Formats: sequence, C-alpha cells, structure tokens
Amino acid sequence: MAQRNTDIIPTIPGLAYGGDYNPEQWPREVWDEDVRLMREAGVNVATVNVFSWAGINPGPGEWDFERLDAIMDLLAAGGIKADLATSTASPPPWFSQAHPETLPVNAEGVRLNYGARAEYCPNAPAYQAAVVEMAAKLAERYANHPALAMWHVGNEYYRSCYCDDSAAAFRDWLRERYGDLDGLNSAWGTTFWSQTFTDWPQVMPPRASAETPNPGQVLDWQRFCSDALLKLFRAEADAIERHGSDKPITTNLMVTGNFNGLDYHRWGEHTTGPNRLIATDHYLIPEQADGIPWSIQAAFGADASRGLAAGSPWLLMEQSTNSSAWRRGGFAKRPGDLVRHSLSYVARGSEGAMFFQWRASRYGTERYHAAMVPHAGADSRVFREVKQLGAWLKDLAEVKGSTVDARAAILLDFNSVWAAKTPGQPSADMDTYPELRRWHAALWRRGVTTDLANPAWDLSGYEYVFAPHLYLLEDDANLRAYVEGGGTLVVGPYSGIVDGNDRVHPGLPGALGDLMGVRVEEFRPIWEGETADLDNGWVGETWSEVAHAVDAETIASFKGYPETGAVFRRKLGRGEVWYLATRLTELDPFFDRVGVAPDFPGAPADLELVRRSHEDGRGYVFAINHGKDPAKVPATGRNLLTGKAWAPMLSLKPGECAVIREG
Ligand code: GLA
Repeated sequence: MAQRNTDIIPTIPGLAYGGDYNPEQWPREVWDEDVRLMREAGVNVATVNVFSWAGINPGPGEWDFERLDAIMDLLAAGGIKADLATSTASPPPWFSQAHPETLPVNAEGVRLNYGARAEYCPNAPAYQAAVVEMAAKLAERYANHPALAMWHVGNEYYRSCYCDDSAAAFRDWLRERYGDLDGLNSAWGTTFWSQTFTDWPQVMPPRASAETPNPGQVLDWQRFCSDALLKLFRAEADAIERHGSDKPITTNLMVTGNFNGLDYHRWGEHTTGPNRLIATDHYLIPEQADGIPWSIQAAFGADASRGLAAGSPWLLMEQSTNSSAWRRGGFAKRPGDLVRHSLSYVARGSEGAMFFQWRASRYGTERYHAAMVPHAGADSRVFREVKQLGAWLKDLAEVKGSTVDARAAILLDFNSVWAAKTPGQPSADMDTYPELRRWHAALWRRGVTTDLANPAWDLSGYEYVFAPHLYLLEDDANLRAYVEGGGTLVVGPYSGIVDGNDRVHPGLPGALGDLMGVRVEEFRPIWEGETADLDNGWVGETWSEVAHAVDAETIASFKGYPETGAVFRRKLGRGEVWYLATRLTELDPFFDRVGVAPDFPGAPADLELVRRSHEDGRGYVFAINHGKDPAKVPATGRNLLTGKAWAPMLSLKPGECAVIREG
C-alpha cells in the first residue's frame, strides 16, 4: 500500500537529529558552545526562528535579518542543517496593537489579550496577509542558503476564534459545502427546537448559548476551524514556493491522541507528497495516560503518524528529554526513556528523532521545560543520553527510506471523534480516543503493530482492521469491499450510528447493520462501576446494546438474556466481520477467539519488536525490552548499535535496545 520514497529528506544526511534552537535567548558566546556541543552530540539539524517575529519584523514595514543571517551562517559553518521556521505562530505586541481585530475571541465573546503566544484569529485578513508576507520575505532571503534543509511553517496549529470575521468565513465555508440555506437547514436538522435559518447572517459559530448547541453546527464548526488553519498553512507554503524554494515544507502536527482539534487526515492531503513532510510532536501526558505505559503511548503517536503519512516520509519533530513543565508537572522521564522513546519512533518509521528544545531557557513560561542541554549543562545524565542517542542514530543512517508494513490497522476518523463528543449523547463515556488507545495498547501487548488509518482509505493490504469506535460513518461501501476481499473486520459498539452530519441513520446500527448481519434494538449504557456479564465469562462495561443476529452467528450473549447477542461473527465473501455490542473489559481473550496472530510469534511480552524494510527487501528488526526480565530477540544478523552479530538465542537486558540488520 505504501508509496515508498527512498529519497526522504534528501537535504539531511542520515536520520534527522536535533531540536528547536532558540539562540536569540542567549548571548553570542553561548552560540559557539552550542554548535560545538551539537557536533559532539551528533546533531545534524536545528529548528530555528520559531518565535522570532519580533526580531525580524520589529515594526510595520521594518525588517531586520542580521541575527537570523548570523544564525543560519553559524549553522552552515558548523555543518548543521536548518529546519527554518516562518515564525508566524506568535505575532508580537506591536502587531496585535496595530491590528486589534486579529486577537482571538473565545466562545463567550471575550477578546483575548496578547502577552503569551499564538494570539491570532486564523480568519483575520490582516493576520493572513502578514503571514504570507513573512513567508515570502524569508523564502526570498534563505531559499538558497546552504544551511536550509526544510521549512517549518507556523507551529503546532490549533487556534480557533469566534469573532465576526470568523463568523463570516464560517458562512462562506458552509455556502461552499451546502450551496444554499435549505441544504444547511437540512444538514443541521434545524426544524428541531425551531432553529431554522431564513437568512445567512443568522448563521453563527457555536458561541456560548443558553442551552446545548446544535450538534451538526458543532461538528461543522470543528471542520471549518481545521480547514481555516489548513488554509493558513497552505498560503505560507505557496508563498515559500512562489519565492523560489524547492526544499521540503513541513509543520509540526500533534498526532498523539491527546490533541484532536484538526482533521489530520485532511491535512495529510496537503502535508504529504512531493516537497512535503509529515512531522509530529509527542509529549507524554501523565494525567491522560489511562494507565497505559509511556512506551505504548509513544508507539500510539508513532503509529498514528505513520498511518497519516501513508507511505510518505514523516518525522518526530518534537518530544521532551525529560519533564514538560507546562503540564501538571510532578513527573520526570526515567533514565534511558529518551533513547527508548526515540528508537521506538524510528522503529515505527520516523526518519529521525527531534526534541523541544536544544538548550533549556533561563526565562519565560518554559524556563523549567526539559532540553537536550539542561540547566545543569553538558555534564549531566540527560546530555550523556543525548550523545548516546546521536551516536546510535548515526549508526542507523542506512535505515532511512525504509518503511514499516503493518499487518493491521485501527480505524480513526477525526469527524467521528468530534461527532461522538457532540452534546446529548446517550453516554458521556463513549469517548473515542481513550478507546482507540486501549485497543492499540492491547494489540501492542499482543505484538501486533497497527497503522491508525482512515476508514475511507484502501484497506486491502491489511489482514485485520479494527474499528473500536466508529460512531460516524456515511456508508459501509469501503468496509464491505475490504471484508468481501478477504479481510477480517472487528467492530466495537456504538459504531455506524450517524451520517456525516451527526444525524442518526434509520435502523440501527445504521451504516453497518447490513454488513454485520446484526440489528440493534436498544442502547443500554452501563453505569460507572457496574458491569454486564457474558455467558462465556467475558465482561462488558460502559455500554451494552440489545442486539439480534439477523444474518450472523452469535458467539456470546449477555447472561440472563440469551435471546439477544453480545458478540457476533459473520462470514462474508472471502472475509469476516465481528461485532461487539459492549465494551469488553479484557480484549485479549476476544482477540484469541478472533485468532489475531502476533507479528513475531513466540516473542516475549513487553519486548517491542518492529520491522522496517527497504523496497529491495533489506530489513531491520528494532527491539526494545520494556520488561523486567531478559528477553530473547528472534532475529539473525548484525546489531547496528554494537556492530556485533546477533542470533536468536541472544537476549536484551531490561531497558536495552537492539537494531538488527537481518541477513
Ligand atoms: C510545543 C511547542 C513548543 C514548546 C513545546 C513545549 O511542542 O511547539 O514551542 O512549547 O510544546 O513542550
């Protein structure tokens, strides 16, 4: 399935290694030490100019590139490439004062002040014009600079705004989508609660209202906000190319499962392909872990990013060497984690491992954020690990351009994630992301590497496709083709319920009932702390349904209700489809029943094993022992991290890693 690209990030030799570099926070003499330490650590790329708008454009019509010239020249002289940011993520105070209408307005109608970052309205014409001008100026000046490896447009796009400019842009977007007001009224079901629009100016963003807003409006607003930011990204990217640059263009997305404000699959259409690179940031967030260890959380972000890239190159652009101070705080990474998490990302397809940031800041909100060079300086555990990782990534240079061919996919549709969160759901606990992470973790523990894939994509290359919670689905055509063609589809409860506008499909489970041969008669959410027992010993929680087999085999039923089913299987064409009418507390026994086989049969639990391979068949087995016992790695070849031969009877101690070139 993957379109392979062996010439990945051709501007960077080997795998990318480095981090955000903010020399503007430091006196000139520190810069020389930075470059010396970068070289010592094996850093080959630095992300610069992310928050430098105030420096290069200190006032209306004023431009000053002296410092950025010096930084770019310094990197070039040191043999380090630049991931050159456009600095548009944080307009300076002069800009906000000159254009107060560009400051964002929240849903309550409060216009927010400047003084932090990302204080802009994506739909404000003055901001839109300013970012294009900035991108053009930078491209004119640096397109052919020897340090330039790639462009980093904006930074972690996420801002939304509810102002009048945004309302007008939202109406334009809706006009484009629905044509006229009749189309919009029908899509949003505005006959409910007398919400019918008779003139376009009546249509508004979902601003704070007296009662719960219209779910169709909320869903379209999310789509619009994602598209508005994508428009900004594309405008900058176009300006860069118009002004003579042919270098790759990227932006750091947050494809981690903790942030889902953008439809990344839609973004992917514009951030993959020639001269584009998918990049992602991953910060581990203890309070959102749901009991899933960091190793598996890191794998989730990587698997989601690889899925998004769909065979094109992608890169872990930011992560933290240690704690991220802007979270609740109170956590630190364990020794070795920065290396293990980075290798896990590379194992799963990333073309390198980058961090925020190179040197810890002395001031500002992120003064306690971890860095590659911590406040303690180079004589520190963190910097020693940074050097170790740099040395290993250099040894792994030949891995660049190889890809991971996952046998299984987990379905993710951002529209469905959003729709499942709209107001008025039968259970507030049927949240999609935690469920995707739970299934992903169960499959990780089983030794199955999964792509996070969109339900509309070509799925024919996968042996298994899991849809833990696909609440919104227009129709079953693509999934039916997958099953009939020989695939095994596993569907979790409360899936296929609504159409693309969050309107309930007639006859449940709407889009999937025919395909699964199941009819759902009733939703029966399960109260927190309570469970539903199945007659085969399995247990359900959170959700259950009164469901009947119409043209399917009933594999298990709820105890005491033998006439209704809880687990169903239907053979169809050359494949089969399974349906769960409840959330099982334990997924593993169910996966046993389905017959989900691991990627490396017989490998120990807690041993992360992933294979990358080149088009010509050269393969690499990445092994990371997250367990407490030594683990044998079933591979034969040479361990690139030590240069020594590897045989299947050899094992890794707890915490150790190996990358075995097969053969
Ligand atoms: C994000 C941003 C960075 C920085 C880090 C801190 O990734 O892109 O500028 O704020 O978070 O973790």
